[in-house]
Amino acid sequence: MVKIMKLIQNWNEEDRKAYGKKVMVVQHKLNETGLFTDEALAAMLDRHPNHLIDFQHIPDDPDYPDQQVGVDFGDANGTTMIKAAKSSGRVWINVREVVNRQPEYKKILDQLHMELEGYVGKNKDRKNCRGGILISSANAATPYHADPTMTHLWHIRGHKKAWVYPKTTEFLPDEAYESIVLGEVDEDVPWTPELDQGAIVAPADLHGGELVLWPLRSPHRVENVTYCVSMVMEFSTKRSAFTNAGMFTNGVLRRKFGMNPSWENASSPEKLTKAVIGRIIKKTTGRKSFRRKDMVRFKLDETVEGFVRAVDTPYERAH
Ligand SMILES: [Fe+2]
Repeated sequence: MVKIMKLIQNWNEEDRKAYGKKVMVVQHKLNETGLFTDEALAAMLDRHPNHLIDFQHIPDDPDYPDQQVGVDFGDANGTTMIKAAKSSGRVWINVREVVNRQPEYKKILDQLHMELEGYVGKNKDRKNCRGGILISSANAATPYHADPTMTHLWHIRGHKKAWVYPKTTEFLPDEAYESIVLGEVDEDVPWTPELDQGAIVAPADLHGGELVLWPLRSPHRVENVTYCVSMVMEFSTKRSAFTNAGMFTNGVLRRKFGMNPSWENASSPEKLTKAVIGRIIKKTTGRKSFRRKDMVRFKLDETVEGFVRAVDTPYERAH
């Protein structure tokens, strides 16, 4: 009989109590699966459809403060993309949904969910379970943002620094979170250095083999110290879907009707009504009507240092 390696290590009673409520770090063995070596990642990239790969660059330019911008990677193969991430550039590759789409990674995702359920109890409240892989260069950073779903960051290779902030309106104004659920921006929220003084974790050193968890909607940001590989597991819960639908309605009221709603101060019946309305608007109009155009301003170019160069005339991303 083949013995299956346990991927999550040293989970204790404190972790069970903190799960979903506090920032916490737990050890794991994902690096021992062999699925996250440079060779395995290059082959994984070659198998993955291009429209599910976000190849981003963080320009060192005041016109793009703390922003990641899309790079046209043309027909570059996985080996070239890995080389770009290991270069002196500021490259951040998000391979979306690969963990739920490619069978060998899906096996790992299912095992992690099973192990987690063993620790925190059978939880059927996990919808739309998916996962992506992040491959990023030593000079890359993930700007200050909040995720609209439950997010587990399984850090696998390299050294990062992570900051996590309280999810109060001071750190995450309603208007900024509404932008995220409306799809106006890719989950970036305005950040100023003063916010770091109120961070819950500022910063935590994160090394390969560590899983970091935080409460739903907590703003966070990450700076790389070395080349890094991580896996991001995401899923929706009834609570996250309810809040997102209600704040979607508030976002529409603010933008189309000039109102100034507050989610925190809303009564339970008001929240419920807004969540119902939000679900209906999302179904009928979708998020597309709020989405800004995704313009391509940079191209992957193996011949330049950092692997990325500006295009002469920006154009709209095709997918
Ligand atoms: Fe995130």
